[in-house]
Amino acid sequence: MGGGEQPRLPIDGVRTLIAVGSGKGGVGKTTVSVNLALAMAALGQKVGLLDADVYGPNVPLMMGIRDTPTAIGDRIQPLEQYGVSLMSMGFLNPGDKPLIWRGPMLNSVIQQFLRGVDWGTLDSLVIDLPPGTGDVQLSLIQTAPVTGAIVVTTPSEVSLEDARKAIQMFRQVRVDVLGIVENMSYMIAPGTGEKIDVFGQGGGRRTAEAMGVPFLGELALEPQIRIGGDSGRPIALLGEDDPRAAGFYAIARQVIQQVNAGASKGPSITIED
Ligand SMILES: Nc1ncnc2c1ncn2[C@@H]1O[C@H](COP(=O)(O)OP(=O)(O)O)[C@@H](O)[C@H]1O
Ligand SMILES: [Mg+2]
Repeated sequence: MGGGEQPRLPIDGVRTLIAVGSGKGGVGKTTVSVNLALAMAALGQKVGLLDADVYGPNVPLMMGIRDTPTAIGDRIQPLEQYGVSLMSMGFLNPGDKPLIWRGPMLNSVIQQFLRGVDWGTLDSLVIDLPPGTGDVQLSLIQTAPVTGAIVVTTPSEVSLEDARKAIQMFRQVRVDVLGIVENMSYMIAPGTGEKIDVFGQGGGRRTAEAMGVPFLGELALEPQIRIGGDSGRPIALLGEDDPRAAGFYAIARQVIQQVNAGASKGPSITIED
């Protein structure tokens, strides 16, 4: 990015900001955002989740909550579910009506979500970005003090190609990439327990190595992950000991460690066992 850099003013009370992006939609960005937020909360962090996918706000459905937020003065109060503070366009525009807003309005609504919401004191605010590398993503990460970004991809080449673009976008605006999550990496065949590579194998790790970013781990294509999302009870609620949830906790631990290592400004946060 040439030209002048915009100031990235801190958000009062919010210690770290973790953006979850992807090159493509449908790769599991919201699934990762929601389960990462819940796993971090279960590990003792105070966590908020901002659904910045204003055209496709799926956080309310996946978190199983559809209330209307209230305001105190001019501060919007986030909703709270499973110990995580939440804000989503889906709370303000319920139902199936599509939003037909354009760039400037979108940018101002996202700024409202960042700075007009009473987030309180948070160790981390997780942001579920819209898919892709367009204007909305750019303006958000250029104006928000993003500590680091996670890029979600499947192992398929079309998804990886777009994930590389997302990594380039974060680099251009000088946002640290915490790593790649490879979602839908494999399926365990019922009965035999055999690992089936649905979308190819190892692409996420190879891409991470080639681009010099950490590889945060693989998540299986697992019916219970989809059911958890569709039913508003994400799989991470089952806890770290559940093998279908464990991958999200492994990612959460690495993310907490990385943002702590990089957070020279604040006190380090501890992980509860
Ligand atoms: N690892 C997984 N196993 C099974 N289903 C998954 C997995 N990850 C995501 N899904 C499902 O795939 C669909 C798309 O995921 P979603 O998180 O909405 O993607 P995105 O936010 O990138 O568009 C959802 O129905 C979700 O439940
Ligand atoms: Mg989504």
